[in-house]
Amino acid sequence: MNQRSLVVISAGLSRPSSTRLLADQLAAASEKAARDRGLDLRVTVIELRDLAHDIANNLLTGFPPAALKEATDAVAAADALIAVTPIFTASYSGLFKSFIDVLEKDTLAGKPVLIAATAGTARHSLALEHALRPLFAYLHAVVLPTAVFAATDDFGADSADGTLRSRITRAAGELAAELERRDPVTVLDPFALTTSFEDLLKTI
Ligand SMILES: Cc1cc2nc3c(=O)[nH]c(=O)nc-3n(C[C@H](O)[C@H](O)[C@H](O)COP(=O)(O)O)c2cc1C
Repeated sequence: MNQRSLVVISAGLSRPSSTRLLADQLAAASEKAARDRGLDLRVTVIELRDLAHDIANNLLTGFPPAALKEATDAVAAADALIAVTPIFTASYSGLFKSFIDVLEKDTLAGKPVLIAATAGTARHSLALEHALRPLFAYLHAVVLPTAVFAATDDFGADSADGTLRSRITRAAGELAAELERRDPVTVLDPFALTTSFEDLLKTI
């Protein structure tokens, strides 16, 4: 089977987190949609809550602690990203934005990104369109057409077959289609020996 990698970023702060719940539903739907297209999706979930101190340290010092470096490397090596934030004060959360801020330049360029958000009220659903979509467009990511928003009420008993479920399925289908038509990301090792010892000796 054709392998692809998916990194899911969840910026929820609560425990349990509705943001993580949405992230998991999106990941599961994406795995299924990818499988239907003959792709084997390896999923890595990154909980930004666990990296909050590292992110602050990176902003202050300019250097990522090991766990944060592992997370940013995973994002760079991913074939696609699902980015889920809680809506705080009508926009993405500060922690979510700070993680995006510590990514190396061009990390997201050309990468398919499914954007999603949770919030207390449906009134702020357009934050996906006026805050998240422009942010990722600025970073030259390929933002999928369907953004997924879930207010607290959407997680009720009826939600499994309702609008939220259908948006999750549609967004996951778009993600899988994007993965299918692209070659897997290859990450170059900056320390890899690309010239043979023989050729190196010739230059001395
Ligand atoms: C500081 C703060 C600001 C918030 N601002 C908004 C807001 O502007 N609009 C909204 O609908 N919900 C707002 N909420 C509610 C959260 O978006 C909502 O509870 C979210 O689903 C929490 O995600 P979590 O369970 O993953 O932590 C806010 C919550 C907090 C803590």
